[in-house]
Amino acid sequence: MEKILSENKQWIDETWAKLDTKLSRTAVKSRDKIPYTTVDGVHDNQMEILPIHWCNGFWGGLMWLMYIDTKKDVYKQTAERSEELMDEVFGLFDKIEHDVGFRWHILSGVNYRITGNKQSRVRNFIAGQSLASRYIPNGKFILPFNLDDINNMTIIDTMMNIPQLYWLSRETNNDRFKQMAMNHADMVMRDHVRPDGSVTHTAYHNFETGEPYYINYGQGYAVESTWSRGQAWAIYGFVLSYIHTGKQEYLDTAKKAAHYFISCVSDDYLPKCDFRCPEEPVIYDSTAGAIAACGLIEIANQVPEFEKSLYMKHAIKLLKAMEEKFCDWSEKEDSIVQMGTERYHGKNGKGIHIPIIYGDYFFVEALFKLRGNEFIPW
Ligand code: GLY
Repeated sequence: MEKILSENKQWIDETWAKLDTKLSRTAVKSRDKIPYTTVDGVHDNQMEILPIHWCNGFWGGLMWLMYIDTKKDVYKQTAERSEELMDEVFGLFDKIEHDVGFRWHILSGVNYRITGNKQSRVRNFIAGQSLASRYIPNGKFILPFNLDDINNMTIIDTMMNIPQLYWLSRETNNDRFKQMAMNHADMVMRDHVRPDGSVTHTAYHNFETGEPYYINYGQGYAVESTWSRGQAWAIYGFVLSYIHTGKQEYLDTAKKAAHYFISCVSDDYLPKCDFRCPEEPVIYDSTAGAIAACGLIEIANQVPEFEKSLYMKHAIKLLKAMEEKFCDWSEKEDSIVQMGTERYHGKNGKGIHIPIIYGDYFFVEALFKLRGNEFIPW
């Protein structure tokens, strides 16, 4: 693995330098915003559009990653401002769902871990406890949405929020949060991961027994297809659960999901939005590539020596393909990674091939890891 990293060192350093040049400018320009996408090249501001948006932690989280690596104050100031803006969302907690890890664990959780800020710890505590309150004790799973929205459905994405529960267990020296997280992850292995390593986005469960009674495709193409971002959430989510618990089955599941992802992208390493859909129209989702790359790098860090290069090699190929084909390094565009897709079928014809903030976040996190930073924000 050292050989692959040294062969790619120049590319890693040059790409990081381009990220730093672009982000040190937008960190100032967009300091009072929480962006999700761009309009005519300019970051939008979700605090004016949808303060409750599930993606509102990514901008500040990205700023913390840049700060940890570069120690530049410009990033710290924007990260702190972002966290301050997000306090408005605590007044909207009756509308909150499971994506509290995306909102606070990578923002306030990271602030607390690197600066010791006690108020940030409180924020992450409140957010994490609300995730714990979604646990269904008999069925042993976490409900992502509110009862008046979608009853008894689970989604693969929750795998990325449960690291906040592992953190809560460590902070309180009490295993109950970890037990909820592990029971949920066990359900996902049973009900969302198919024998071939692909994953399904949604599953519906009996509240009393946890038994699944209906599987659906969520943001992918169809019931039997594979939504690539869901596959990426599984890769990264399961390796994170392994890192936090040491349970071997989680690492094995992350590897199985990774093998499926790799086999589907290896033509040109530009991930389609769904891996089992008609050949036309071609719909890409860059965010899936960035998330999967983060998961592959962490798998490489966990497996024995002679397995490492397999995962690292494919992570770098994904990132290089994205850097070449999907990144906009110009000053006329505030975002970096283009060609993200919210869902295969779009929404009123929108949300396909757009820049999405977590495309930038996970692209930066992957490069941050490749530079040797061992800090894991999740
Ligand atoms: N967590 C929702 C999504 O990945 O689009």
